[in-house]
Amino acid sequence: MNPGIYNSVLVTGSNRGIGLELVRQLAELATSPSQIFAGCRDPGGPRSKALQDLAQKHSNLITVITLDTTDPVSIKEASQVVGRKLGDGSLSLLINNAGLNIPGNLQETGMKEMVDVYTTNVVGPMLVAKEFLPYMQRASALLGSRTGKAGSKPAIINVSTLFSSIEKCHETFSEAPMYPYRTSKAALNMLTRCMAEELKKDGILVTALHPGWVKTDMGGPQAPLTVVDSASGMLRVISSLTSEHSGTLLDWEGKGIPW
Ligand SMILES: NC(=O)c1ccc[n+]([C@@H]2O[C@H](COP(=O)([O-])OP(=O)(O)OC[C@H]3O[C@@H](n4cnc5c(N)ncnc54)[C@H](OP(=O)(O)O)[C@@H]3O)[C@@H](O)[C@H]2O)c1
Repeated sequence: MNPGIYNSVLVTGSNRGIGLELVRQLAELATSPSQIFAGCRDPGGPRSKALQDLAQKHSNLITVITLDTTDPVSIKEASQVVGRKLGDGSLSLLINNAGLNIPGNLQETGMKEMVDVYTTNVVGPMLVAKEFLPYMQRASALLGSRTGKAGSKPAIINVSTLFSSIEKCHETFSEAPMYPYRTSKAALNMLTRCMAEELKKDGILVTALHPGWVKTDMGGPQAPLTVVDSASGMLRVISSLTSEHSGTLLDWEGKGIPW
């Protein structure tokens, strides 16, 4: 990853899976960010043990914050904690990683599944981005003199999926119908596109990223990619983003995926 680009980072859903590995790799970079905010819903719970151990190992870098991305009060409180830690500093990278999949075909999917998954995968990233935007606007002002180069702009990364692609649906549907997941991530893509347009004036990039099919609780043991390879690929892609990638959907190797 390019040194010194992202000096402060927030990752949501970072107590397990891809989020945890992103935090681990960010902390272990030779030129790591100076502050990493690791959001999770239950920092004191058993599912956050690995994150707490990691945070203890890098206590100068990682701050674990309580952040339930579907709860506006939790988002506001998390933003206040981050604001106090930043002081007059800024946030240069936000990774909206927290996600939910309730698999199901048409017959298996009801209103609750649709609403719960949409709330986590679309409403959450939007509310988080909105709440943390002032810190990112500050980063934009600080980085402004380096415009044009990869990493010279703050970035919001919305973790999406190949399954969000309407164009690719005929190739991927039969193996995994996943109505709530596919539709919510397609909406996340549109959110990405809208924010990319709106935040252009602030010099903030907004990109959707497919991490690959990854061995996690969500991806399952049969997935071909390890979290290590997925996260390192994602960080490589993130560090090479320029304005031309804003408002697009890329995979963990940097290849474009059609909407
Ligand atoms: N794994 C794959 O193959 C794959 C493929 C394409 C895209 N993705 C995307 O990659 C991202 C990470 O997936 P993963 O495989 O690491 O999933 P995972 O193993 O199921 O982990 C999901 C993470 O999101 C958190 N989360 C869920 N709802 C949350 C909420 N309301 N507030 C805060 N955190 C919340 C979970 O926290 P708790 O422990 O509290 O539940 C957990 O840390 C997701 O956006 C997913 O859609 C994954």
